[in-house]
Amino acid sequence: MNNVNSNIIENTKKFVKQKLEKAEAGHDYWHILRVLKLSEKIAEKEGGNMLIIKLGALLHDIADAKFHNGDETIGPQIARKFLSEQQVSEDDIEHIVKIIENISFKNSLEGQQFTSLELQIIQDADRLDAIGAIGIARAFIYGGYKNNPIYDPELKPNLKMDKETYKKGNTTTINHFYEKLLKLKDMMNTPTGKQIAEDRHRFMLQFLEQFYKEWNI
Ligand code: ADP
Ligand code: NI
Repeated sequence: MNNVNSNIIENTKKFVKQKLEKAEAGHDYWHILRVLKLSEKIAEKEGGNMLIIKLGALLHDIADAKFHNGDETIGPQIARKFLSEQQVSEDDIEHIVKIIENISFKNSLEGQQFTSLELQIIQDADRLDAIGAIGIARAFIYGGYKNNPIYDPELKPNLKMDKETYKKGNTTTINHFYEKLLKLKDMMNTPTGKQIAEDRHRFMLQFLEQFYKEWNI
């Protein structure tokens, strides 16, 4: 990566860090740094344009619609404005904005509009951060934020959720494992993503087994 691009990455890191200063723990700057690192790791094996991948990973959650009254246009707008003030080409800006618009799980429930290798890599990284030990921690953070119960044996998971139901997030956190987290392994785009997902998936199954053992003592 040349000097110009390294500068762009450093500026973007500063911008994102400051924007996410007050973000909730599941979507904070640490989440962004984990997704960045995972994206780089996957790209080492799968290829792709490194500048697009890094900028896409850094900007993918710049304004999560969940925390902006459901408005899904704010994130892409903020990213576009920021990038237009950096030395990034118009074509690259368009690509990165499309990545941000199409990366999320809820949008995939309605059929994704756009794809590229770079999007596939960042999407795998974002999904990997939703599973395994870190994924479990994030799910309970989100469940706490929604004041959802940990578990309710009477409440069966809804395996065929549409986007609107998913967004309401009224479920138990244990049900969220079946409604989303356990599905992610088979939704990985790249072989490298899938490989990393296997281990994290196994750990979630182990967690659930222990959870039910303790619940049903
Ligand atoms: P995406 O941005 O891909 O659409 P979300 O924003 O829905 O994904 O999810 C972000 C994080 O919050 C993930 O770790 C996800 O598992 C968690 N999460 C989302 N909905 C729930 C829920 N109803 N209960 C617990 N965790 C949730
Ligand atoms: Ni994310």
